[in-house]
Amino acid sequence: MKRAVFNAASAVLLVLAFVPGLALAKDKKIVLGFSQVGAESEWRTANTQSIKDAAATEGITLKFSDAQQRQENQIKAIRSFIAQRVDVIAFSPVVETGWEPVLREAKAARIPVILSDRAVDVKDDSLWVSFMGSDFVEEGRRAAKWLIDYPPVKELAAKGDVNIVELQGTVGSAPAIDRKQGFEEVLKNAPKFKIIRSQTGDFTRAKGKEVMEAFLKAEGKKINVLYAHNDDMAIGAIQAIEEAGLRPGKDVVIVSIDAVKGAFEAMIAGKLNCTVECSPLLGPQLMSAVKDVVAGKPVPKRIVTEEGVFPQEVAAKEFPHRKY
Ligand code: AHR
Repeated sequence: MKRAVFNAASAVLLVLAFVPGLALAKDKKIVLGFSQVGAESEWRTANTQSIKDAAATEGITLKFSDAQQRQENQIKAIRSFIAQRVDVIAFSPVVETGWEPVLREAKAARIPVILSDRAVDVKDDSLWVSFMGSDFVEEGRRAAKWLIDYPPVKELAAKGDVNIVELQGTVGSAPAIDRKQGFEEVLKNAPKFKIIRSQTGDFTRAKGKEVMEAFLKAEGKKINVLYAHNDDMAIGAIQAIEEAGLRPGKDVVIVSIDAVKGAFEAMIAGKLNCTVECSPLLGPQLMSAVKDVVAGKPVPKRIVTEEGVFPQEVAAKEFPHRKY
């Protein structure tokens, strides 16, 4: 009897040995390696949460790595995911360039790569399977369009120049490059609108405050508008403006990007005039693409997030509905 049981078990093992993975694949959990930019902003924290929650909901094993805003850390993380033979690699690239070698290594190891939130600048687009996230150029355009049509700013433009200071995101990152490009594209047709200073605030509150202090020192009351590439830098700058004895939202009109809760609070307090939405809630979309890729199903090369624009007037009404 014992021998019979042993023989049956051996036969199953033998079959499994010749058909590797066949019987086990069904229950095998997908392993996703994700390299995150860091924790530089309210947006990023919400993005990380969305990815972790969605992985848990979908039963995907997530190997998560925080690069602390450094490209070399992301490259190390991706190499370690390759060494661990994860099923899929996803990442949000801190900067656009310099990814070819590591992406080629992933391709050689037959591990598909999905870009989440930010794009890479590589010639060979077979190095990644899908890119999901916002249209950052369009966000820049939306910020400029709102500004040109904002009645107090229109009044200023009727009398003379509108002096803008710009807080850029991380140097070399897709959102910093694209948001600048989209904003300037619209301003080309509005000659009264002049960007008098532009510097990086690295997407953080602390840097946003520090750079705004320098802008105020150099230009003082000449500044009519602040355009910040994200809400966190705008929130830092608001503090600098108040400390300089000026009224943010009134003496300096402020438009920024993301639409995080902190921006809504600032708008309700009358200190921020408009925020352009950039949704960080990419987790569910990412997990569904991961599952499709593993199942061999086709995934769209580009998935663009739908977003809106929230001026101060709608902030109080919209605030209770905000998810991040
Ligand atoms: O890539 C998205 C940008 O990165 C967000 O606008 C910013 O807040 C974040 O740090």
